Amino acid sequence: MNQRQKQQQEFDQSEQNLIVGSEQQCPLSPEQLAMTTADCDYVVETFESGLTAQVFHIRIDGQDYTLKKKRPQAKVQNLDGQYSFLNEVQRRFDFQTQKNNPNSAPDFQHIVETIYANYRLGIIVSEWIEGTPIVEITDDLMVELFSTLLACERIGLFEWDLCSGNLLVNEQGQLKLFDFGYMYRFEPLQHFNSNGLSAPLFDASERFETRFLSGWLLEKEYSQKESLQLFKAVKRQALRMLEDKRGWLDANQAKPEVIERVQASIEKVETALSSDAKLEHLFTLEMFRSHVLDIEDDLEGKSCTSTTIKRVQFVLAMLEQHYNLLREGGALFYQNQDKSQAQLREDYLRKKALVVEYQL
Ligand SMILES: Nc1ncnc2c1ncn2[C@@H]1O[C@H](COP(=O)(O)OP(=O)(O)O)[C@@H](O)[C@H]1O
Ligand SMILES: [Mg+2]
Repeated sequence: MNQRQKQQQEFDQSEQNLIVGSEQQCPLSPEQLAMTTADCDYVVETFESGLTAQVFHIRIDGQDYTLKKKRPQAKVQNLDGQYSFLNEVQRRFDFQTQKNNPNSAPDFQHIVETIYANYRLGIIVSEWIEGTPIVEITDDLMVELFSTLLACERIGLFEWDLCSGNLLVNEQGQLKLFDFGYMYRFEPLQHFNSNGLSAPLFDASERFETRFLSGWLLEKEYSQKESLQLFKAVKRQALRMLEDKRGWLDANQAKPEVIERVQASIEKVETALSSDAKLEHLFTLEMFRSHVLDIEDDLEGKSCTSTTIKRVQFVLAMLEQHYNLLREGGALFYQNQDKSQAQLREDYLRKKALVVEYQL
């Protein structure tokens, strides 16, 4: 167990409660909301996809809200899953603190409004976001995403799960983030992410590419040229965020290692943006990395989908065509480090069989 998991377990086993907002803002009494089921007449729609919570779109006195309700028993066994509801209430508390301060509120305008949350009752009531998943990757959306993620990092919060189901675009075309089950505290001036200094691989743009962009490009079946154009658009905005981050790290005397890492990322993206060939080179390396990481996540959670199969096929094809480029570019890391092309082919064929077995 890591430090955070220990603290969350301790909190969960104590009698303490964590409440965000005030009961007066609740459309119904908190106790009543906690007893909500899909059959209640104020429930408009139910989202059952979550392993640790149910989400209800509710309407009371003509006003729409979102009610996230903790399942009595999480359907996931791992600790992070078990504490993800508590984690989310903790993050809602952090965000409402920022939103209540007029100086910081604008930085968090793309974070959902929490109306009321009560950990012991197992409820989070939020504004209902009328909107859709991302259907087009635009500069505006990327600016909103990365500036919000940087604002989160500056207050010491690192988001891991930037999947399509956790990103909504509202009717005004604005991005909204609303699921913080896997957003963890970290020391932004001392550490790369919430794993401390041990895994520099993980950062905000990597998370977006791994959890969203790589799968999205596969699903939409874009041509290589179209994919590269989108990748370029994303990287342009990621670069702006990295430059802002470096400025902030500099101004706040961050640890040199942390500054150097951001600087290296800046240079990597600048190089990629300098020519089509270099852009394609980085695209190959980063998409390979993202697929590899996401395949491991899905296998670990035994939660594979048809996209996971496509990811493994893509990885196999890349190993076939670009093995040397991937090795020299540092894309063979962790379990893939120092392995031969034949060994990796064998590994990923075995993973492919597992992915087929673990289809949800
Ligand atoms: N505030 C909201 N407004 C509109 N839809 C929401 C809101 N919160 C959640 N949803 C919908 O419910 C789904 C599940 O919610 P989420 O908070 O991501 O829970 P889970 O833990 O199950 O992933 C989302 O993918 C989204 O479609
Ligand atoms: Mg979610």
